[in-house]
Amino acid sequence: MNRNKHLPLGLPVPLAAVVPKEKAQEMLNMLKKKKLIDTRYKVVREGDLVYIPVKEVVDDLKVVERELPPREVREDLRTCLERRLGRGDWPRSFSIIGDIAIISINDEILLKYADHIAECIMKSQKNVKSVWGKLGTEGPHRTAKLVHLGGERRSETLYKEHGLLFKVDVARVYVNPSLANEHSSVASLIREGEEVLDMFAGVGFFAIHIASRKRTKVVAVDINPNAVRLMIDNLTLNKLKGEVIPVLGDAGEVAKFFKDKSFDVIIMNLPHSAVKFLDEARRLARRMIVLYAVGTEEEIKEKFGKYKYTKVIDYAPYKGIWRIEIPSK
Ligand SMILES: C[S@@+](CC[C@H](N)C(=O)[O-])C[C@H]1O[C@@H](n2cnc3c(N)ncnc32)[C@H](O)[C@@H]1O
Repeated sequence: MNRNKHLPLGLPVPLAAVVPKEKAQEMLNMLKKKKLIDTRYKVVREGDLVYIPVKEVVDDLKVVERELPPREVREDLRTCLERRLGRGDWPRSFSIIGDIAIISINDEILLKYADHIAECIMKSQKNVKSVWGKLGTEGPHRTAKLVHLGGERRSETLYKEHGLLFKVDVARVYVNPSLANEHSSVASLIREGEEVLDMFAGVGFFAIHIASRKRTKVVAVDINPNAVRLMIDNLTLNKLKGEVIPVLGDAGEVAKFFKDKSFDVIIMNLPHSAVKFLDEARRLARRMIVLYAVGTEEEIKEKFGKYKYTKVIDYAPYKGIWRIEIPSK
């Protein structure tokens, strides 16, 4: 095949595998797996046929040369900022929660470029509608200190974690997408029929992961009224096999309230100060406490070395947030 023809944009005329529409998904998966799709072009459907752009002739597939619409090339954040503002130590990364992007603004000078940062992020991610700068985490509710950089001035969004839906408010409740696997992994430790106390439940991540999988009963406590309000909404957004009982209050006070009641598992995700509540948790736990703590590996080993401990995420340099599984006697 003569591959010297070019489209007006300078792209070569693409090769397209022609497949019947019923087979298109299967062929797409196969070509994706073999890394044969030419991602510079879009897939086109015409009548009963689908044209898939491919990098080379593929055995057993009919491949033709034909024009296909080019895919929009999205510039990454840093390239976009360099083009607009010149070379500099521009940020590269940001996190996305639902349709909101959050970028750490360690250096407040960056606030001067808020418009450019917001526009470049929204250009690079078509689903992002609102951009916030994070100056740190503050207060007992562990909420992010945010400044609006651009897009819609809205901090509430719908966020998906392992197929579960959560309504969150990034300015008013704690939410950390890096904990998605942890929420799921702890849910897999809970057994059918167990009773769980989540002492620092937020908008119900652990509770909803657990109750979506098994017939369990989870008492989910949080001191932040916004978190409990959203948790109640989140219970209706997901199909649950188990029961979740949201409780607004201080976990220490709530724990004292349970005089003759105990729980198979107690989850304590308040890494900076959960240990303060450990005695109360020990009194209530029948099988295990899942405790989170911050520290270097040496510090964690020294304090909790006799238990199973696993690093969940990096925290400050050399420190991490660790999960410690403390069995009840
Ligand atoms: C680190 S966040 C964890 C939230 C959630 N479990 C998650 O995995 O995303 C800690 C939560 O504990 C709540 N909290 C802080 N002090 C508390 C207390 N004394 N009693 C109950 N909840 C508390 C905060 O409001 C926050 O939602």
